[in-house]
Amino acid sequence: MDQHYKFPEGFLWGGATAANQIEGAWNEGGKGMTIEDCLPYRDVGVADFTKQFHFTTNDLEEALAAEPEANYPKRRGIQHYHHYQEDIRLFAEMGFKVYRLSIAWSRIFTDPRDEQPNEEGIAFYVNVLKECKKYGIEPLVTLSHYDPPLVLATDYRGWYSREVIDLFMKYARVCFERFGSYVKYWLTFNEVDAMLRHPVTSGALIEDRFPDMPFEQAIYQAMHHQMVASALAVKLCHNMYPDALVGCMMTKLCFYPYTCKPEDNLATQQRMRSIYRYVDIQVFGEYSLHLLKEIENKGLTVQMQSEDGCILKEGTVDFVSFSYYMTSCMAAKTEGLDMAPGNTVNGVKNPYLESSEWGWQTDPIGLRYSLVELYDRFRKPLFIVENGLGAKDIMTEDGKIHDPYRIEYLREHVKNMSLAINEDGVDLMGYTWWGCIDLVSESTRQMSKRYGFIYVDVDDYGNGTYKRIPKDSFYYYKKLIAANGDVSAIDMEG
Ligand code: BG6
Repeated sequence: MDQHYKFPEGFLWGGATAANQIEGAWNEGGKGMTIEDCLPYRDVGVADFTKQFHFTTNDLEEALAAEPEANYPKRRGIQHYHHYQEDIRLFAEMGFKVYRLSIAWSRIFTDPRDEQPNEEGIAFYVNVLKECKKYGIEPLVTLSHYDPPLVLATDYRGWYSREVIDLFMKYARVCFERFGSYVKYWLTFNEVDAMLRHPVTSGALIEDRFPDMPFEQAIYQAMHHQMVASALAVKLCHNMYPDALVGCMMTKLCFYPYTCKPEDNLATQQRMRSIYRYVDIQVFGEYSLHLLKEIENKGLTVQMQSEDGCILKEGTVDFVSFSYYMTSCMAAKTEGLDMAPGNTVNGVKNPYLESSEWGWQTDPIGLRYSLVELYDRFRKPLFIVENGLGAKDIMTEDGKIHDPYRIEYLREHVKNMSLAINEDGVDLMGYTWWGCIDLVSESTRQMSKRYGFIYVDVDDYGNGTYKRIPKDSFYYYKKLIAANGDVSAIDMEG
């Protein structure tokens, strides 16, 4: 008998984006400047991708002095700021039930120290949210997706400075007050575990600005401040809107032991714990002993105020959301082993998996494995808020984009989600495909790393018409949503 892949009624199918990767209009509508506006395009190649994360005061000065034609891709995004109605109409055409977007703090407060918010920025998001509601699309809003206002780096020491918590809370309060009637699902910080991997975009931390301490000291402190801010935001939202649901968001990296050697298994376990422990704080409301031990063993200290423990306890999340793209392996000793790049990490290459053009190893079963692991650990409803394939798309002469590779990736991941729900008993709320419309890549800042079901005609240098063109995957996802995820029914239709 043919297997059918079922999903619960009301399952939230949709797509996800982030303000800094789509909006453009970096200096319009009263928007202040952000760190992302200062990240230059660097053609560093797949193996050297971590060089993108290197950012110094010198880079910052160059960005501030740059000529208008200099290549800072986040400044232009895909011009969603001017195309949002068309974009949301296309999402609605696919049948989206949910759309994950992020708000740019710098549009709500031109300068985070301002007393009054920027009404033009608020009006933009009200329009976006109304547009979603017009089509019955539920917005899922991230307060902070790698987009710190530049002032946090120049006039503060990023999230290392405790005052930033108050600035953030002023911003969060305005978001809840002005957008709360349109939004039921909120996320606080995107990928809370990322501070150690790319401190500049997560925490507005520029290493050369911390000559007085080990940089790790600044990172752990900044992380603590974000944890406190996140908990305060959860509590505030719950107080203002008792029916709203607020989630945390993690990078669901997944490492398999490279061999069955105990050393490789231990290394794998340690690697995974070093990612989970930040979500532990947001779910259980306290630091894991593992994290406290690590800080102590490194000879670092994290300044915590007496009320912080209570704040973390009172601000625990309602659900756990995560990004999932690929898996790789861990070995205690990596000398002589092939390595594979992944989502802001390198891992040992898994000989059983295929890789994308950017070296990320595709692994649909790893999604099922991850869902089970997360649900068993946290016992909270889960939400996949990012999953997708970055690929080079080619437009044919008749102006079409045939992307069977993306359809295949989607289909296999959806099958494994269904198995996790129906066979493993995982509580999964929804699924938002990352980059449902082509956008600027976070790690490579390329347009040519395309995730979308909708093609956007612009290249890595900003040349193009910005025209939106549905790809084959657009029509496939439309059918998939209409069938509530039953991909076997779609296959049978042919
Ligand atoms: C996630 C980020 O980790 O990965 C997104 O939240 C990012 O912002 C996505 O775009 C895909 O990564 P990349 O580097 O291919 O854009």
